[in-house]
Amino acid sequence: MTDIRNIVILTGAGVSAESGIDTFRDAGGLWEQHKVEDVATPEGFARDPDLVLRFYDMRREAIQAKQPNAAHEALARLDREWDGELLIVTQNVDDLHERAGAKRTLHMHGTHLNAWCTACDARTRWTGPLIDRPECPKCGARSLRPDVVWFGEMPYEMDRIYAALRQADLFVSIGTSGAVYPAAGFVRDARELRIRTLELNLEPSQGSRWFHESRHGPATQVVPQWVEELLG
Ligand code: OAD
Ligand code: ZN
Repeated sequence: MTDIRNIVILTGAGVSAESGIDTFRDAGGLWEQHKVEDVATPEGFARDPDLVLRFYDMRREAIQAKQPNAAHEALARLDREWDGELLIVTQNVDDLHERAGAKRTLHMHGTHLNAWCTACDARTRWTGPLIDRPECPKCGARSLRPDVVWFGEMPYEMDRIYAALRQADLFVSIGTSGAVYPAAGFVRDARELRIRTLELNLEPSQGSRWFHESRHGPATQVVPQWVEELLG
């Protein structure tokens, strides 16, 4: 892989699984315990805001007690040591990439650690609960919601993601089921752009057949191995 210079990495819930954060679609995953349309859509929020705020308050509290694992650490090392372009696009709303030290990250599905004011549009770092309808620090309205992208809403910074893909020589997908678009389509976009594609996942995903190469195993093993290989 000596001709690799610019890399786009897509991560999903699988990269945080070994930190003790539930994935969505694995057995016992979040979408088995909760209905997507109740807790992860604008309609669900309009119908029962308390249910949705409580769900995200619990998740926000839980992730703060978790720690980055060897996969996050390896990607942070790659970020530090890689001279070429690198963008870690994550679908995860936790902050474990950043806590491991990665800087070149993009949260396409938002983050648990921001509150978004629907009155003034301000985003504020938020670590506490939202259920009591605290005031927006910017405008004072009690209109804060989690800054996470729900089904039916547009993921963030798609232009920046596609711009990075157009410059990339390698696209790597880590720990994601390939079930949710547009992220699930990045591998096909990459193929059209004639970029090399690699999947690192516990098991073959829905999109596996689109990748030039797939390596299967727990993220804490396959990711550090791959990074070591790449940095040589
Ligand atoms: P999923 O739960 O759909 O998929 C998790 C993937 O990680 C599966 O392919 C697992 O095989 C794999 N996996 C599990 N444990 C792993 C481990 N230890 N090492 C490596 N891989 C492992 O989660 P995502 O693909 O991230 O969106 O889900 C995508 C989006 O769907 C999420 O961002 C969220 C969800 O609904 C929104 O909420 C908008
Ligand atoms: Zn506000």
